[in-house]
Amino acid sequence: MSEGDGTTLKIVAYCCHYCSYAAADLAGVLRLSYPAETRIVELPCTGRLDVLEVLHTFEHGADGVMVAGCLEGDCHFQEGNLNARRRVRYIKELLNRIGLEPERIEMYNLSAAMGRQFAEAATQMTQQITNLGLNPLRLTNLLEPTGEPS
Ligand code: FES
Repeated sequence: MSEGDGTTLKIVAYCCHYCSYAAADLAGVLRLSYPAETRIVELPCTGRLDVLEVLHTFEHGADGVMVAGCLEGDCHFQEGNLNARRRVRYIKELLNRIGLEPERIEMYNLSAAMGRQFAEAATQMTQQITNLGLNPLRLTNLLEPTGEPS
């Protein structure tokens, strides 16, 4: 898949400010490469992950979503990452119901020191989504460039 022709994978990574966002930063500092398809969205905590926003992310063309929160037991807001894991499980069910593969979204737990693991998770997620192919909803949008319902 190549850049600029509408077939480049888009993977959105919702990253907690306190851990995986810092881990992504560390990966950069350590010059560990991870796929350019990964677009990071910083959250104050993965407990703020919004189910509707994730569904809109898929509707608007994301091929995959990774949610990366603090290690279990280390969430700065007690159980935000546990709530995020439950929401990811729920989103998987919703994706399945609308005919999308549940593997298009995954949850990861990382500390700020886990730059290498962040790069590995992003690479693993990109490989998983590459195997699934483009989000079919996105292909529909490509056929209808105005985005208006036909
Ligand atoms: Fe990191 Fe809650 S503060 S997941």
